[in-house]
Amino acid sequence: MSDNGLFLTLEGIDGAGKSSHLDALEALFRAQGREVVRTREPGGTPLAETLRGLILEKPMDPLTESLLVFAARRDHIVQIIEPALVRGDVVLCDRFTDATFAYQGAGRGFDEAVLSTLERWVQAEAGRAPLLQPHITLWFDLAPEIAAQRLAGARVPDKFEAQPVEFFSRVAQGYAARVAADAKRFVRIDASQSRDQVWQQVETALVARGVLNGSVTR
Ligand code: TYD
Repeated sequence: MSDNGLFLTLEGIDGAGKSSHLDALEALFRAQGREVVRTREPGGTPLAETLRGLILEKPMDPLTESLLVFAARRDHIVQIIEPALVRGDVVLCDRFTDATFAYQGAGRGFDEAVLSTLERWVQAEAGRAPLLQPHITLWFDLAPEIAAQRLAGARVPDKFEAQPVEFFSRVAQGYAARVAADAKRFVRIDASQSRDQVWQQVETALVARGVLNGSVTR
């Protein structure tokens, strides 16, 4: 198994602006000669993208939703993430399990003990003890009120984006709890700053973590 694979995830509430940095992140790693697999959750495989459509559009109880999210994740890990890490690629993933704890757990109030059990089932991978987890997670932290303003009128909202600001306050607390429980995996990005300043934070954090060499230019 290669030790050079890098599993990097981006997290934050809807409207925090994380996805707008994916192009630049991909370009940055490619410029350093890395192969990059850019993907997202829920999704990333044909089956998982089908499940994504259901999860984002259909009303369902929180256990059903959690099972579908983790079913999609299992397929994504087996088909895409694990093979890419074994090849030594950079896996750039827009959301992963932290989003499940934040949205289904804190947001919808679903039992986190059940989510932890599903996490253990789905992310148990030989050689990735105790579980497959991202090496680094960029957490785009933004006040829910500001995120709501940024989202307003931007596009037709999906099931989660249509939730009131109170829902996103709970989701934000869920993220903060996940960060507190595994602080060294996370980099907090102050997403209230300008897009350029946010990008600077991302670049600086990756250099500090030793996954980029310091001489990169944009
Ligand atoms: P998002 O990543 O924001 O994609 P887009 O920018 O295309 O809207 O949307 C995914 C939504 O799915 C987001 O509202 C969070 C939600 N979600 C969960 O509820 N649980 C999960 O485990 C994941 C990965 C996402």
